[in-house]
Amino acid sequence: MTADATLPIVDGYELIRPVGVGSLGRVYLAKHQRMNRDVALKILHSHVCERPEIVENYILEARAVAKLSHAHIVQGYDAGEDNGHYFFAMEYLSGGTFSDKLAKDGPIPVKDAMVYLYQVASALAHAWQQKIIHCDLKPANLMLNERGELKVTDLGLAHFQSDTTDVDSASSGRRVVRGTPHYLSPEQIKTPDDLDCRSDLYSLGATFYHLLTGKQPFSGENNKAIILARLKTSPQPIAELRKDLPKELSKLIDQMLEREPEDRPQTAEEVQERLLDAGLDPKEAGDMAAAVRLAQTRSSSKKTQPKGKTRTGITRTGMNAAERGHTDIHAHSGRHQTPVKLYYGIAAGLALLMLFMILYALMTA
Ligand SMILES: Nc1ncnc2c1ncn2[C@@H]1O[C@H](COP(=O)(O)OP(=O)(O)O)[C@@H](O)[C@H]1O
Ligand SMILES: [Mg+2]
Repeated sequence: MTADATLPIVDGYELIRPVGVGSLGRVYLAKHQRMNRDVALKILHSHVCERPEIVENYILEARAVAKLSHAHIVQGYDAGEDNGHYFFAMEYLSGGTFSDKLAKDGPIPVKDAMVYLYQVASALAHAWQQKIIHCDLKPANLMLNERGELKVTDLGLAHFQSDTTDVDSASSGRRVVRGTPHYLSPEQIKTPDDLDCRSDLYSLGATFYHLLTGKQPFSGENNKAIILARLKTSPQPIAELRKDLPKELSKLIDQMLEREPEDRPQTAEEVQERLLDAGLDPKEAGDMAAAVRLAQTRSSSKKTQPKGKTRTGITRTGMNAAERGHTDIHAHSGRHQTPVKLYYGIAAGLALLMLFMILYALMTA
């Protein structure tokens, strides 16, 4: 087979065909020759490469993100430069993006949405443990592999984007905002250098609002209007657009889209916990560890709780907050009480022995 002369040449890879184009680069299906496996090779656009400091940082960041290993985060393999091409090689995902899926099949079923939301939250929780935030969560950065498993892509690489919107307003000051206008958090506009995982939770809410209703949470005649709308207005409650949502799910999504970070769920784990409380079976989300913990908690609470009492507040550790506190206190006292008593006993015994010895010495003197 002769190589397609229009495709870039990157040492170690056989480029097969382009599969997509984004703001930073073009993505190709390629074969990693030594490992003989399919990869997605993102080659940065030449205009991006004109700024060497950005490119070098992108490569460094891509290498850092590739260290993450999680069932729902695309696996990065390699990043570097060859023949003037800056590239990032990652797991090839043949199932397409969720924006393609939405365009093809329409809004996703409720049950699937709960499973996917749980899985993305689990990926974000894992990334945040390493203090990595996504910053550009959107349907186009959620993809499916050949087995239909969800993977989050472009984690931690959003701030290198070259797509920008000039925002100039009384509330935000004059600044350039990077990222996809529909899903940005208010703080990405106001304080882009001071973000935490709650910013991703806003974008997660916006992403699933779109996937469940087919409608973006904010609209406007241009990117700037769309971006600024979230600083002043709230989206239409999702329950008005999608009648079959369980109340807990519509409340959760509306809350993720709160303007103030303090009014949102505070962690991705809390989002997972609330989905379990809304009735999601963790087995369906592939979280077998959570399923086992949930079963254990259920059987122990069956033994101790009066009939009819329901479980609330299951966390990833499989216990609600009260149970965790209870267990912690017991673990603490259980571990320390016995040795402390033993030490007191030994000390008292020694004191008595010494008293007898002194008395004996006095009597025999
Ligand atoms: N790991 C991958 N496997 C297969 N296709 C991919 C992969 N990553 C991206 N793509 C394809 O390339 C397109 C552009 O991706 P990307 O450059 O990340 O765009 P964006 O900047 O909008 O996130 C995607 O829409 C998708 O079709
Ligand atoms: Mg992408």
